Amino acid sequence: MTALPANRRILLVSRPVGIPQPGDFAIDEAVQEPIHDGQFRIRNLFLSVDPAQRGWANEGSNYAPAVPLGSVMRALAVGRVVETAHADFPVGSHVYGWLGWQHYAVATPADILSQFTAPAAPLSCYAGILGINGLTAHLALNGIGRPRAGDTVLVSTAAGAVGSVVGQLARAQGCEVVGLTGDDDKARLCQARFGYHRADNYKTGTIDTVLDAAVPDGVDVFFDSVGGEILDATLRRMRTGGRIVQCGTASIATWNPAPVGLRNEREVLTRRLSWGGFVIFDHVAEFSGAIAELAAALRSGALAYDEDIRAGLDRAPEALVDLYAGRNRGKVLISLD
Ligand SMILES: NC(=O)c1ccc[n+]([C@@H]2O[C@H](COP(=O)([O-])OP(=O)(O)OC[C@H]3O[C@@H](n4cnc5c(N)ncnc54)[C@H](OP(=O)(O)O)[C@@H]3O)[C@@H](O)[C@H]2O)c1
Repeated sequence: MTALPANRRILLVSRPVGIPQPGDFAIDEAVQEPIHDGQFRIRNLFLSVDPAQRGWANEGSNYAPAVPLGSVMRALAVGRVVETAHADFPVGSHVYGWLGWQHYAVATPADILSQFTAPAAPLSCYAGILGINGLTAHLALNGIGRPRAGDTVLVSTAAGAVGSVVGQLARAQGCEVVGLTGDDDKARLCQARFGYHRADNYKTGTIDTVLDAAVPDGVDVFFDSVGGEILDATLRRMRTGGRIVQCGTASIATWNPAPVGLRNEREVLTRRLSWGGFVIFDHVAEFSGAIAELAAALRSGALAYDEDIRAGLDRAPEALVDLYAGRNRGKVLISLD
């Protein structure tokens, strides 16, 4: 057997407080070890850059333990099986899962979220619109938001990898769909491409003036990925029986110390709101059915998506900073040659 090349990897080397910075990471090259029974080796093709990586890198309250210092940065990726000791993962098949910010990963079935031997879409899609971003939009909107025709659906991070899909799915269900984004161009994109009837730049004026204009009659479903002031202001505009999908908390700079905000429990009570937290990794059993539905919508041209693909492993840390600064147009991926 020819010697395996060294594995280039990005390690988390210091514990960030808030958004991880490039200095929190280091690149190294590791010797690749032989695989054992039940394992398979994957050559990563597209590394995912996700807002969730802030939470995985930081200490503190989360649904998963923090990435240990000195280890490969936790990340989802799409790759091709190049060596196998597992009959269900033949060489040449493609997988999406916990493969890390690195060129090669040694995996077991527990690391894999989806497997596709005959891809129904470009491979990059399986790390975005057919990965956790599109799946979160689909499963959280329908599972927690439960939109009905005629509902007003408000979406934060409206132009992003998750939000752009939420807009289109809600529109297809007969809802009035309103987006919030941090950039005029993205607001235009939301309306031109992602199904929104209206989209506003939340950075123009106060959030109250923006919402007064955008949702004057209130909100039935708030698909929220930012929390903070936008959530506080929207709670006071929810219609009776409204549903809030808590998908993310991008606007909160740090959870340590815990932020203190307005008291909104009265709004939840008097408006009879349902407020549900969603973590996509609780729904892996639903992935294959949901991927099939999203892939069919993609093929029929009913779903548009944007990708922001940057070439080279070294660019991953800066891409995460850009994501939090809003300097992304769609799903951020790192392509590896
Ligand atoms: N719960 C789950 O299982 C799950 C799964 C996937 C994603 N998510 C969440 O969904 C959200 C979107 O993820 P994505 O992958 O689709 O990323 P994305 O929307 O493509 O990119 C992140 C966007 O967040 C916005 N943002 C950043 N800082 C902000 C702030 N301080 N206030 C308001 N908006 C801010 C920026 O958009 P603007 O330029 O428009 O401000 C930025 O482009 C994130 O909160 C993520 O954690 C949750």
